[in-house]
Amino acid sequence: MKMNTLHLTNSQQDIATAAAVLRDGGLVAMPTETVYGLAANALDGNAVRRIFEAKGRPMDNPLIVHIAEIADIERLGLVREFPETARKLAEAFWPGPLTIIMDKGSVIPDEVSAGLSTVAIRLPSHPDARRLIRESGLPLAAPSANTSGKPSPTTAQHVIDDMDGRIEAVIDGGACDVGVESTVITVATDIPRILRPGIITREEIAAVIGDVEVDKAVLNKLENNERASSPGMKYKHYAPRATVILVRGTDEKFIGFVNRCQKRDGNVAALCYTEDIGKIDAPVISLGSENDQKQQAQALFDALRAVDEIDGVEVVYAHCPSADGVGMALYNRLIRAAAFRVIDLPDKRIIGLSGQTGAGKSEVAGMLRELGAGIVSADVAAREAVEEADVKAALCAAFGDVLNPDRSLNRARVARIAFSSEKNLKTLNSITHPRIVEIMLRKAAECEQDIVIFDAPQLFEAHADVFCEKIICVLSDREKRLERIVRRDNLVKEEAELRMSVQFDERFFIDRSDSIIYNNGSVEELRARVKEVYGGLSDG
Ligand code: TXA
Ligand code: MG
Repeated sequence: MKMNTLHLTNSQQDIATAAAVLRDGGLVAMPTETVYGLAANALDGNAVRRIFEAKGRPMDNPLIVHIAEIADIERLGLVREFPETARKLAEAFWPGPLTIIMDKGSVIPDEVSAGLSTVAIRLPSHPDARRLIRESGLPLAAPSANTSGKPSPTTAQHVIDDMDGRIEAVIDGGACDVGVESTVITVATDIPRILRPGIITREEIAAVIGDVEVDKAVLNKLENNERASSPGMKYKHYAPRATVILVRGTDEKFIGFVNRCQKRDGNVAALCYTEDIGKIDAPVISLGSENDQKQQAQALFDALRAVDEIDGVEVVYAHCPSADGVGMALYNRLIRAAAFRVIDLPDKRIIGLSGQTGAGKSEVAGMLRELGAGIVSADVAAREAVEEADVKAALCAAFGDVLNPDRSLNRARVARIAFSSEKNLKTLNSITHPRIVEIMLRKAAECEQDIVIFDAPQLFEAHADVFCEKIICVLSDREKRLERIVRRDNLVKEEAELRMSVQFDERFFIDRSDSIIYNNGSVEELRARVKEVYGGLSDG
């Protein structure tokens, strides 16, 4: 049923109207200093149930009760007991963006606590929120006023975008100062524990109450069998339509990576710092200054919503903040927006080495190693990748039982199936390539050398090219290649020709590389050319 949502200002008269709506069991979106909240009478289970319906929120995710005075906690019997630690936190940080979880009082309906024995309470500092709570005379249950799963709203317009026609009213109090939701801490555990980071940091809390833990789910993905201490942590969150990927690495590596992705795919955007904007060739959304994490928090959700307004963007690379101080709150939101997809860019100069089979790529790799480069072989990484349990499971799911009696992978069998059709080969690659690249990046990070060669026949097919600041390809004449393959792999001429026929042609490699090494002459000539190309790398 669609209703007419009232668009209210924060005038005294409008606040009075909104308070009356709440007393009648209706829903009002209100500004708070963190994000907009979707409020209902916290003591009325029916009113609260409507919040879940409007947001499409799972019923097992409890709500925060908002109050206007610390004294309300005991006056209204919201908790079973108001522990000393909670009192200290309240006095230090309220009014403000901290939510404290305590054992709940009997007046709290099950809808608010989602059946838990605890309740979350917060005293916001936003003047409009406090006026509304006072004027209504009620404690207000309020989650963020977004559709469940979308970024939290930080302006009245965001609320209207999600909730228009589903709630009675929204009060426009301008843009929220903080921009990320409150820090949630429970004191119902032996040692107080942060369940959601916000701009009130762990360090600030520790200065008031001493010992404080950070829940594992704040920075890590929970395994399927792990219970979330805070139910909200288990849901995909803050996600725009485009795929978000968190990228860890220096400014320089991040910029280079995004630019190469854009050049190759043309459908990417970057979520980055103002300092980087002019250097990125893809559409950018700024998170604010690199050195101002509070500004980044304020901009974060608006930025995530803005992603969907850029036409044609399918992947957004977000430059990963460090996870300390306020950064922990940013990291926690971004990693959920990214559904825990993270790319670690090694602080190395990665050079791609590819080319046609039989052209002499391995010889070139050996010579580069002698010249001082680290070598990361895709073939070695591939052998490791296919022995990982989840990769093996995916291969069995796709191709049937492809394991040996000792549970190792029957590689000959996989190869036979994969090369029997183009579709099977695609399936194999889609399972193995991402893992191979991940392993190669990890090995690159572990290399002692500053220059690391990605020795990869399928550099381009595996999309490993975007990690390479330069690409070298080795080519040689058809007859020479044929001869080498026959000798190297013990094949008859026809088999070798068949292998060569599925390869990309010379043009493909020439178009995609910075240097070509032709290997048609002597070993000495090859070594001289490799040296020349290697020397060119240090010229940047
Ligand atoms: O800044 C904020 O906290 C905003 C504004 C509107 O106040 N509110 C907000 O509410 O972010 P919501 O519902 O979007 O997030 C509340 C989080 C959820 O992750 C929920 O699972 C957790 O707090 N939570 C609430 N009650 C809890 C409880 N009793 N035990 C554990 N976690 C709880
Ligand atoms: Mg929320």
